[in-house]
Amino acid sequence: MPRKGWIALLAAVVLISVAAEVVLHPVVHASPDAARLARRIALGKQLFNDPSLSADGAVRCASCHMPDRSYTDGRAVAIGVYGHTGTRNTPSLLPIAAANESTFFWDGRRTTLEQAVLDPLTNPVEMGLHDQSQLLRRITRNGAYRTAFAQAFSDGGVSLTATEVGTVLAAYVRSLTPPESPFDRYRRGDRAALNPRAQLGLALFQGKAGCAECHRLDGSSSAFTDHAYHRSGVGLDGIAANLSALTQGVITRSLQGGAIGDRVATQADEAQLGRFNVTLDPADIGLFRTPSLRSVSHTAPYMHDGSVPTLEDAIDREVYYRSLQAGRPLNLSVEERLDLAEFLRSL
Ligand code: HEC
Ligand code: HEC
Repeated sequence: MPRKGWIALLAAVVLISVAAEVVLHPVVHASPDAARLARRIALGKQLFNDPSLSADGAVRCASCHMPDRSYTDGRAVAIGVYGHTGTRNTPSLLPIAAANESTFFWDGRRTTLEQAVLDPLTNPVEMGLHDQSQLLRRITRNGAYRTAFAQAFSDGGVSLTATEVGTVLAAYVRSLTPPESPFDRYRRGDRAALNPRAQLGLALFQGKAGCAECHRLDGSSSAFTDHAYHRSGVGLDGIAANLSALTQGVITRSLQGGAIGDRVATQADEAQLGRFNVTLDPADIGLFRTPSLRSVSHTAPYMHDGSVPTLEDAIDREVYYRSLQAGRPLNLSVEERLDLAEFLRSL
């Protein structure tokens, strides 16, 4: 072949391989990790919406974490299998990823999301399965799930574990993120995204009203929580007379073992002890995790026991209790409370 021909051939080969690299790169190397994560999220979503994973075949995660209610249920306390009522208000799942949350439930009794997502399945008043082996049997009798798990895990298909179920549910929960809010746009520099009243509310929230001390809005994600526990005053009145018997009961039962979540969901008085149920430290009686206020106008009713019906009531209660706690009376006018409410509606 003449020299020119060789050069042309060589050039063509180079061109083809460059083109192949450009075209194939995203496909061939489009990180197996990303593809696997997508499979896990899809599978987690299926499980999240599957009522066959509950004792009466009627309750799924989405029964309480309803997508069109910001993943809450609009009830004071949750209602699970056979119409059993729980003791706590269903929290939104939308802030979890943004808040980079590392403790879960109102009392922070779980430290990984992978564990937290498994608890409702065997909670007697939520999905009510006997135990995790019953859960695994229910999943594996479904051929489509077996295939999907095999594709979502490299060693998959051999024998399904609860850890894998927790992994896919957690992947789905982390994939849920709140829609962009007026406050997000404001933060990115669109000063018109918040109306004047909401802007006054923001100034109060960070300033005089002191809300941002706990519902923190620093950092890029502005999670509106300090990830810490505080006394709320909500629900303590009802148990004050009975406190020492109650705390003794909790301590005795915790020595016998058993899931904290199952107890607090079925014993309304014990549930009001909050963080104490986890630490057994008397200083933690009545402490609850600061909830994120993202999407808060869509998640009524409020507080760990759902005892506060509207956003305005919640603000009044917080203004009253937080100033009592700080030992400095906080006199917010009616107008200022409306400003705060308008700001909270922008989150
Ligand atoms: C019967 C209603 C109900 C069902 C069904 C239910 N949940 Fe929940 N969920 C709740 C309640 C109530 C809480 C708060 C419990 C507490 O803090 O003690 C909660 C809390 C959570 C939390 C912790 C959120 C946080 O910010 O700490 C996660 C995660 C969660 N649920 C995921 C799920 C998943 C996944 C399922 C399905 C496997 C599910 N839930 C089924 C009512 C329900
Ligand atoms: C000392 C920390 C702290 C301060 C200061 C504080 N909060 Fe809270 N906030 C909490 C905790 C903890 C809860 C949960 C209490 C409970 O459920 O018993 C809560 C709950 C709420 C809720 C209900 C959220 C839900 O999803 O149920 C709203 C609304 C709220 N706070 C608004 C405010 C406003 C407005 C201010 C300022 C006036 C404020 N908070 C100041 C810690 C604080």
